[in-house]
Amino acid sequence: MGFFDTEKGVEEYVKMAEGFDGTELIKILQKFLPENSSVLEIGMGPGKDLDMLSKTYAVTGSDNSQIFLDRYKKQNQNVDLLKLDAVTLSTDRTFDCIYSNKVLHHLKTDDLKISLKKQKEILNPNGILFHSFWKGDKTENMEGLLFVYYELYSLKELFEPDFEILELKIYTEDQKDDSIYAILRRK
Ligand SMILES: C[S@@+](CC[C@H](N)C(=O)[O-])C[C@H]1O[C@@H](n2cnc3c(N)ncnc32)[C@H](O)[C@@H]1O
Repeated sequence: MGFFDTEKGVEEYVKMAEGFDGTELIKILQKFLPENSSVLEIGMGPGKDLDMLSKTYAVTGSDNSQIFLDRYKKQNQNVDLLKLDAVTLSTDRTFDCIYSNKVLHHLKTDDLKISLKKQKEILNPNGILFHSFWKGDKTENMEGLLFVYYELYSLKELFEPDFEILELKIYTEDQKDDSIYAILRRK
């Protein structure tokens, strides 16, 4: 059982993430993605970004933690949610955009490669990806949770086979220049 599959882990995360959300990232996304586009969020967690995305887009939230999904559904009865693992993304549906904020660093790099292939399959033509990562060159395991940090060049290498890189930039979330976001178009 993973960290986010326990009430304790979920509550710990919710407390830790207080004061953080993807407002600035979503403003950047809006420059690339027209209003009313369909957006799938992977690893929505508490759903703060999903709330914001839903003001402009037709959103579908997802996570592989049933606890996060149930928690969000309680407050948002009409929301479209899917229980999806970020690696397999087993759905027949397709989307104009796939978004994640600090999720894909929990995958082993080989699994991230599989995820990106799958993401390409479930993107509509001309669809875009928007993902954020922690910047660095280490791999850590904290309370059973994997953290794989990436530098710009290592992400570039991962993305280039299947995606045109529209933006790949360093930004600050907590400590100066601790994060990277990527905007990618399906090749
Ligand atoms: C660091 S939290 C980020 C949550 C949210 N995006 C935010 O910005 O607050 C990571 C989220 O990814 C989810 N997650 C981790 N591994 C996943 C996987 N393999 N498939 C789908 N979701 C996953 C966790 O359940 C958790 O909700």
